[in-house]
Amino acid sequence: MSQIARASAQTNLQNYITQILHTELNTDACSSPSPNIMCLRFGSVHVIVVNCPEIACEILRKNDAIFASRPLTFASDSFSFGYKASTLSPYGEQWKKMRRVLSSEILSTAMERRLHARRAEEADHLIRFVYNQCNTTANNSVDVRHVARHFCGNIIRRLTFSKRYFVEPPLGSAGASPGPDEMDHVDAVFTVLNYLYSFCVSDYFPMLRGLDLDGHEKVVHGVMTTINRLHDPIIKERIHEWSTLHKHGVKREVRDFLDVLVSLEDSEGQPLLSLEEIKAQTAELMFPIVNPSNAVEWALAEIMNKPQVMEKAMSELNTVVGKERLVQESDIPRLNYLKSCIREAFRTRPYHPFNIPHVAMKDATLSDYFIPKDSHVIISRVGLGRNPNTWDVPLEFQPERHLSGSSNIVLTEPDLRFMSFGTGRRGCPGVSLGSSVTMMLFARLLQGFTWTKLPGVQTIELKESTTNLALSEPLILQAEPRLPVHLYVSVSS
Ligand code: HEM
Repeated sequence: MSQIARASAQTNLQNYITQILHTELNTDACSSPSPNIMCLRFGSVHVIVVNCPEIACEILRKNDAIFASRPLTFASDSFSFGYKASTLSPYGEQWKKMRRVLSSEILSTAMERRLHARRAEEADHLIRFVYNQCNTTANNSVDVRHVARHFCGNIIRRLTFSKRYFVEPPLGSAGASPGPDEMDHVDAVFTVLNYLYSFCVSDYFPMLRGLDLDGHEKVVHGVMTTINRLHDPIIKERIHEWSTLHKHGVKREVRDFLDVLVSLEDSEGQPLLSLEEIKAQTAELMFPIVNPSNAVEWALAEIMNKPQVMEKAMSELNTVVGKERLVQESDIPRLNYLKSCIREAFRTRPYHPFNIPHVAMKDATLSDYFIPKDSHVIISRVGLGRNPNTWDVPLEFQPERHLSGSSNIVLTEPDLRFMSFGTGRRGCPGVSLGSSVTMMLFARLLQGFTWTKLPGVQTIELKESTTNLALSEPLILQAEPRLPVHLYVSVSS
């Protein structure tokens, strides 16, 4: 047991399996593909690892009713306040209730339209922020990771709480940097994502819970303290506001996601959601910071080493948008080359090597293999996206491979040749919002600035981190504004 504990302190389940499965996928040869499916035993749990699109489709499309549950782990339990929200909850009434709230109220087309102005303001703030950064730093240098993560954090906070900052900076500080609370917030979300389904020894040997042999419990408690410190006062104040309105029979329009969560009523006119459910759902709404920011950082890193790809992307922006106005969400349908770049980033450079795990709710068969009830099924994003049986030169960043002649390239991939938003019952309900956030971040950075490598850097080192698959070091580049000055200074704050 002590051996297991020691090993788990240094590595996690995902990294461990990644090492077993993907060593050869990270070589240029890709000569011997990894097994399409394999089974590992952790304690009493069968962990089924899937490495090819065909079996992934069997799980998420053909048999998604069977594989629609989630594992119960220490971190997912803590982060979801005992499975009170959607993403982490096992299949059941609670998941159905929260998924319905998300799909039909929060991520509905009507809500997306209503909150368009918020997203547009954040895209303007992004341009102004980077403009200020490159005018005030040595070498015009910009930390693309910082910009990308905080743009996504700002957007989700604006949509959820109507706040970019937890404590508003003084008037006139438009384009201001994130403060310590916003830094803590985004760091907490990334920490949680690194720990959510990592190998925690007590998940497989429950009698060890409380001993915290691998230190996971301490980290998860720390993160929850930060999230509660930042979210709780806003949530409690909003509940108070709505209950006062309710008492006086006053109605007001919902302004953000939190308003929706707080104001929904059941058939008896009582609040539909408890405080715990609201806390859990607002915490989970922060997860999507990771995918757009990681994809855009990688896409930019890749194309810095490929001038011909950068040229095509800039030429598309020049043709579709020009230089006299800023790119808008309404331009996205015509930015097919840029969308192909993001598809390449999703395909080759996911943040996590694996999709969120699914659990078999009854015995099943996958590709003629017997899968016992309660098995944890994890689909390898790397196994799909870098699979040599699906993709030519799988490790090459080639946006052209996605230009199939369709007049509107999309970021979804229902055939699971790579993992973007998944599919089926547990597929992502935030496809539309996630696509627009990702594309606006990418398109604004490219349109607004000419990016160059720092002096002395010949090529960007495309090395993955050892704890996840993010770029091992934040991408730092030089940025030069390329549009008329009034477009940077006149944008809304
Ligand atoms: C580029 C952006 C995004 C990507 C690539 C992405 C991708 C994914 C993936 C791969 C899953 C898991 C599917 C599965 O378990 O098989 C998922 C689930 C989920 N996503 Fe997204 N997502 C994005 C943005 C968003 C946004 C903006 C929201 C909402 C604000 C959101 C909300 C959710 C929820 C609630 C689930 C869990 C669904 C469930 O378990 O029932 N996502 N997403």
